[in-house]
Amino acid sequence: MAVYGNISYWNERYSKEEEQFDWHQKWCGIKHIFSELNIRNDAKILNIGCGTSKLSEEMLENGFTSITNIDASSVCIQKMQELYKDQQNLKYMLMNVCDMKQFKNAEFDVIIDKACLDSVLCSEDSLKNVEEMLSEVARVLKSDGTFIIISHAQPNYRLGYLQKEEYKWSVTIKTVKRPMLGVVAPPVDDCLHYVYICKKGSVITEQ
Ligand SMILES: C[S@@+](CC[C@H](N)C(=O)[O-])C[C@H]1O[C@@H](n2cnc3c(N)ncnc32)[C@H](O)[C@@H]1O
Repeated sequence: MAVYGNISYWNERYSKEEEQFDWHQKWCGIKHIFSELNIRNDAKILNIGCGTSKLSEEMLENGFTSITNIDASSVCIQKMQELYKDQQNLKYMLMNVCDMKQFKNAEFDVIIDKACLDSVLCSEDSLKNVEEMLSEVARVLKSDGTFIIISHAQPNYRLGYLQKEEYKWSVTIKTVKRPMLGVVAPPVDDCLHYVYICKKGSVITEQ
């Protein structure tokens, strides 16, 4: 859907949508991966293309202590800043993931992308945007940091973008079941979400 790469689409959508909404997976569907990766509670975390997801709130409830959230939709960020104004450990900033110059090099231990790369890939000039996005992610990620992407797309549609030497990470893939809410007959071909784990600083073996 080409609209997902268009920020005016998101602004309009967030202006109409009252409830918070989580794309792909909720925290309960992916938290085992954070445990398996031994992500520390005091990790400095960046959630890119956060939308109105409850992910960061639920991560805080699970003990994480520092989560910065960015999104390019001003409507989204205004809503989230208001909603979480009393929550010191959650920060919401208006920012394009392709240009994160407000952040220093190597600022974050963990970067989470839940359906943001999927959206950027729908944008006009998507190849340029994805390259800029991934270079920026690699820049602001610490030298031993982890970039975790939750995507609807199978590896042959994502690895070509992610597996580049310049990013200095190695990529492993896990899958999680798609929630089947409201679906009477599950699709036979692909009822999975793909989790791409890009780990800097060490080579991990495929699982
Ligand atoms: C499919 S939604 C996912 C929202 C949330 N992460 C979730 O899992 O529910 C994609 C989000 O990415 C944001 N987005 C799209 N392009 C972006 C960009 N270039 N920079 C920052 N955010 C972007 C949109 O505004 C939207 O909130």
